[in-house]
Amino acid sequence: MNLLLGVNIDHVATLRQARGAHEPEPIAAALLAQSAGADGITVHLRGDRRHIQERDVRLLKEVLAVPLNVECAATPEAMAAVIPLKPTWVTLVPESREELTTQGGLDAVFLQGMLRTVIRELRSAGIRTSLFLDPVLDQIKMAAKLEADAVELNTGVYSDLPMDGDPSLELGRLRDSARMTTRLGLRVLAGHGLNLQNVGLVAAIPEVEELNIGHSIIGRAVLIGLERAVAEMRAALARARP
Ligand code: PXP
Repeated sequence: MNLLLGVNIDHVATLRQARGAHEPEPIAAALLAQSAGADGITVHLRGDRRHIQERDVRLLKEVLAVPLNVECAATPEAMAAVIPLKPTWVTLVPESREELTTQGGLDAVFLQGMLRTVIRELRSAGIRTSLFLDPVLDQIKMAAKLEADAVELNTGVYSDLPMDGDPSLELGRLRDSARMTTRLGLRVLAGHGLNLQNVGLVAAIPEVEELNIGHSIIGRAVLIGLERAVAEMRAALARARP
């Protein structure tokens, strides 16, 4: 099976918000990612709106040819904002104001009552639901019971292992969870903290259909695009004063 790549462009919006300016434009970034081969675009519409705004989601939905996946909290406020924007997918994630990025998966067992309501609400709006879960079998079973369409396995613990650490325990959890998710009839995605160095072992898990990657791609784009950006500015200066 072909492994799909979902590209998370939140950091482009973070850079824009840092200046309260119009650039860099996340919609342009999404279109570039799409033409470079991204199979989907992901954005996280956080409660504090620190990076992605409703306007971004609305425009992405309008211009993208690939599926749009919106991450958000499983709260009535988030549903009221996201449902009218009609993304292809909603990925429910835990969210707290203090965190720099999503910390750990949802506790679907603890939150089952609330999740059941939210998943039904999304389904009746024609939106498919993915749950961001730690690779724990009880959590996966709950996702199936709640009739989610997919599970995104949290690779954060695996990604945080030191370079010389032994990944076999965490990889075993990811493999077992991926197998169980498929057996229960749900799609399997994975993501968090994946980069060029650590992606291979997760990409090799046969049941995983799609990886969601943001930080490492946007971080690398800043570096490999810098030479060209400086050269363009030098050329603009040269044109002004030939
Ligand atoms: N999946 C989920 C649910 C996330 O919250 C994030 C981070 O926004 C990612 C994947 C991508 O993680 P990273 O930016 O570390 O690649």
